[in-house]
Amino acid sequence: MLPEIMVDILLRPSILVVDDTTDNLTLMSALLNDIYKIKVANSGEKALKYLQGDVKPDLILLDIMMPGMSGYDVIRNLKSNPKTRNIPVIFLTAMSAPEDEKKGLELGAVDYITKPISPSILLTRIKTQLHVKAASDFLNDKNLYLETEIAKRTHEISAIQDVTILAMASLAETRDLETGNHIRRTQHYVKVLAEKLKTNPNFGYFLSETMIETLYKSAPLHDIGKVGIPDRILLKPGKLTRDEFEIMKTHTTLGRDAIKHAENQLGLQVEFLRIAKEIAYYHQEKYDGSGYPTGASGNDIPISARLMSLADVYDALISRRVYKEPMTHGEAIKIIIEGRGKHFDPEIVDAFLTLQDEFQAIAARFMDNESDIRAKIEQLNALHNTNNEENTDV
Ligand code: C2E
Ligand code: SIN
Ligand code: SIN
Ligand code: FE
Repeated sequence: MLPEIMVDILLRPSILVVDDTTDNLTLMSALLNDIYKIKVANSGEKALKYLQGDVKPDLILLDIMMPGMSGYDVIRNLKSNPKTRNIPVIFLTAMSAPEDEKKGLELGAVDYITKPISPSILLTRIKTQLHVKAASDFLNDKNLYLETEIAKRTHEISAIQDVTILAMASLAETRDLETGNHIRRTQHYVKVLAEKLKTNPNFGYFLSETMIETLYKSAPLHDIGKVGIPDRILLKPGKLTRDEFEIMKTHTTLGRDAIKHAENQLGLQVEFLRIAKEIAYYHQEKYDGSGYPTGASGNDIPISARLMSLADVYDALISRRVYKEPMTHGEAIKIIIEGRGKHFDPEIVDAFLTLQDEFQAIAARFMDNESDIRAKIEQLNALHNTNNEENTDV
C-alpha cells in the first residue's frame, strides 16, 4: 500500500502553466504547488509539444501575449484537436480590455484572470473550474456508458423478441398444415402493404418505419389463438358446422388473451405486444362490420388488423388448406376485389392491386411444399375417418 502522502499527491489535479516570463512561472508555482501538481512551459510551442504526450493536465493557465505563438494561437490549436479540446483553459494576462476578454471566451476559454494576480481569486477560480470539469467528465463517461449499454440491450431485446415470436407462432402452426411459410408470407405481405400506404395520409400518420417493423414482427402472432382450438375443429378436413365455426371464431379472443397474459407476466407495456394483441383480436373483422369478434367496422378496426386481414385472406385463398383447394392468384384477386369496401378497407385493396408482382414474388419465395401438405392432409383425413367410425361405434 502507498503511503497516504503519496496517494494524496497522485490524486492531486494537475495544472499546466504557460507564460513567457520566468518570474510569473515562479510565482504561480509557489502559489499552487501545495495543492496541485504543477507543470510549466515558457512558450506556446513548448506547451503544445507537452500536450501531445499521453499525460494531460486537468487545467491550463495560459498567458496571452507571448513571443512566437500567442495564447490565442495556442487555444485555437487545442480546441481543434479532440484529444485536448476538453481541457479547460483559463487565460492569465496583463491585458484587461473587455474586447480581449470577449475574444478569449469566444475562443473557448472557461475564465479570464487579469494580472496582477490576486492569490485568493486565482485559487477560487481554479477550484471552481476543476469542479466543473470533474462534473462534466463524470456525465460524459456516464453518457457514453449508458449509450453503449442501451445499444447492447436494444439489440438483445430485439433478438429475444424475434425468437419468442417465432416460437410462439410455431406452436399454432405445428398443429396446422404449415411449416412456417404462411407466417413468413403474411408478415412480408403486411410489410409491403404498409410500405406502400405510408405515403397515404390516412395511413401515413401511423406507419412510421418503426411501426412497420413492429407490424412485421407482430404479424406472425395473428393466429396464435388457434392453439386453443380443438383438433377435431381446426384440423377438420371438411366444412365446419355452425357450432364448430362459433368455436373457431374464438381464436381471436384466445390469441389476444394469451398475449395479454404474457404482457402481464412481463409487467411492462411493450409496443410490439400491444400491436400483436390488436392484430390477434381484430384481424377477422370486416370493413362493413360483418366480421368477428366485435363487429367493428371501417376505421374503428385498427390499421394493423386491416392490413393483416387482407394479407391473411390472400394467403388463405392461394394456399391448400385441410378444408379447401388452393386458388390461382387471378381467382384470389377476383375475391379480394369483390370484398373491396365489404370485407376489406378499399384503400388497402387499391394498394394491394398495385403490389401484385410483389405478392406473387413473396408467395414464390416462401412456397409450400405441395407433396408434404398433401401427405399431411391424407393423414388427417384417415385420422378423421377413424375417429368418426369410433364415434359411430359408441
Ligand atoms: P384460414 O384458413 O387462415 O382463413 C382465413 C380467412 O381467409 C377466412 O376467415 C376467410 O375469410 C378467408 N378464406 C379462406 N378460404 C376461403 C375461401 O375459400 N373463399 C373465401 N371467400 N374466403 C376464404 P374465416 O372464414 O373466418 O376462417 C377463419 C379460420 O377458420 C380459417 O383460417 C380456418 O382455420 C378456419 N376455417 C374456416 N372455415 C373452415 C372450414 O370449413 N373447415 C375448417 N377445417 N376450418 C375452417
Ligand atoms: C393459419 O395459420 O392461418 C392457417 C395455416 C393453415 O391452415 O395451413
Ligand atoms: C385466420 O387465419 O384465423 C383468419 C385470418 C383472416 O381472415 O384475416
Ligand atoms: Fe391465418
